[in-house]
Amino acid sequence: MSISLHFNTENIDWQKIAEIFEKAPLGTREPEKLARAAKNSALVCFAKDGDKFVGFARAISDLEYQAAIYDLCILPDYQSKGVGKMIMNALKEKLGPLSIILYAVPGKEGFYKKLGFVPMLTAMGIFQDEAGMIERGYLEG
Ligand SMILES: CC(C)(COP(=O)(O)OP(=O)(O)OC[C@H]1O[C@@H](n2cnc3c(N)ncnc32)[C@H](O)[C@@H]1OP(=O)(O)O)[C@@H](O)C(=O)NCCC(=O)NCCS
Repeated sequence: MSISLHFNTENIDWQKIAEIFEKAPLGTREPEKLARAAKNSALVCFAKDGDKFVGFARAISDLEYQAAIYDLCILPDYQSKGVGKMIMNALKEKLGPLSIILYAVPGKEGFYKKLGFVPMLTAMGIFQDEAGMIERGYLEG
């Protein structure tokens, strides 16, 4: 396994990235919509093993003060091998001194704590699927 990181969104087969979401699992993404979301993001990171896409994450940001990281997912065969940490450290380094927020999949908080993230006491949000988010353990009921 030789993992390399890439940050360019040109000439990407978004179907392959959508498959990482599906298999990780981190939900279902339409490739075209995912491509638009990535192109509208400040920073996108792909992890590849040779020519194979194995991991993904992106950050939205004003590139002056604030950033938020979304959609970190790694193919199951590549999980627990340091690839998630590699992507997160690269995003943190590129975002430099900006404040970075994210919300963890329930149960994954420890992964982010190891990377220096601290639980937020006053985080608030409006979500399209509020009931689903409550059911999946993201929001107070
Ligand atoms: C969660 C996920 C991104 C982690 O990536 P990964 O490549 O498997 O994790 P890494 O191997 O880089 O782990 C880095 C460190 O975090 C630790 N870690 C990983 N998952 C953890 C968890 N759920 N709780 C606590 N620690 C965890 C590892 O033990 C490792 O510790 P170390 O540095 O002391 O050795 C990956 O497993 C994944 O894609 N899961 C499915 C999708 C998902 O839940 N994404 C998260 C969205 S918030």
